[in-house]
Amino acid sequence: MSGSGAVGASSQTLNLEGRVAVVTGGSGAIGAATAMALAAHGAAVAIVGRNREPLEAVAERVSASGGTVLPVAADCTSQPEMEALSEQVTAHLGPADVLCTFAGGDGMPVPTNEETVAHWRQVTDSELTSTFVTVRAFLPAMLDRHAGTILTMASSAARQAAGSSAAYAAAKAGVIAFSRHLAGEYARQGIRVNCLAPSAIENERMRRWMSAEQRRALGEAFPLGRLGQPDDVAAAALFLVSGASSWITGLTLDISGGKVMV
Ligand SMILES: NC(=O)c1ccc[n+]([C@@H]2O[C@H](COP(=O)([O-])OP(=O)(O)OC[C@H]3O[C@@H](n4cnc5c(N)ncnc54)[C@H](OP(=O)(O)O)[C@@H]3O)[C@@H](O)[C@H]2O)c1
Repeated sequence: MSGSGAVGASSQTLNLEGRVAVVTGGSGAIGAATAMALAAHGAAVAIVGRNREPLEAVAERVSASGGTVLPVAADCTSQPEMEALSEQVTAHLGPADVLCTFAGGDGMPVPTNEETVAHWRQVTDSELTSTFVTVRAFLPAMLDRHAGTILTMASSAARQAAGSSAAYAAAKAGVIAFSRHLAGEYARQGIRVNCLAPSAIENERMRRWMSAEQRRALGEAFPLGRLGQPDDVAAAALFLVSGASSWITGLTLDISGGKVMV
């Protein structure tokens, strides 16, 4: 039974046995940690990114820990590729119960007076339109089955002014509004929609640009005194896609070491 419609203590667990989950951005830091966590709790997981090599590396880790995984190279901004992804997941694993739209991460700071329309469009495509396009591909089957759990990815950049580009902040704020809208639109059809808003989660890009000392100093600036780790986000994702959160929809969850308190 899907975590979306279930009522009663037996359904309110983190167990995902028999479920099919899709994690876009599954080759990245947060997506890989989430795929590992969902697989460890019994879900068969499809992981999605544009480049095959990093996907295969994550798939090997999931398999080695006993999980079922399907790596799919696809671009989440492309409607035909997301429609094909939905068909491929259904054919190989079954219809998706869980959809985590985590692809993105194009938050490089750009002064707005130097921003170009082309880059603005690229960022909103990568962060916001990709979320819509992915949800659009999986939603009809979820509606047919009257069940599904969707988890989208925003950022603390959407919650308060920060160091990203304005385009990224606006696009991620759009993800929050889109998610809340979906949650209201489809609650009565058995579909839950929630959204994550992390801040400063250590990933490959951060390690490339910042020394260990700079990362430690950045972490010190957070009320909880450290940077976030991909597993911090994965734990929240696991909760929000499982039956343990079966009466939660329309939430934006800040994962920010206490930086954002709303
Ligand atoms: N790390 C943070 O501090 C932080 C904070 C707030 C929010 N977030 C958000 O969390 C998500 C994951 O971040 P992360 O730190 O895990 O980043 P990451 O390690 O750079 O991973 C990004 C993932 O998204 C995939 N991706 C990007 N564009 C794609 C597209 N058009 N189609 C398909 N896949 C695409 C990448 O694979 P390919 O490049 O191979 O396509 C990769 O798997 C992003 O949405 C990001 O905005 C991150």
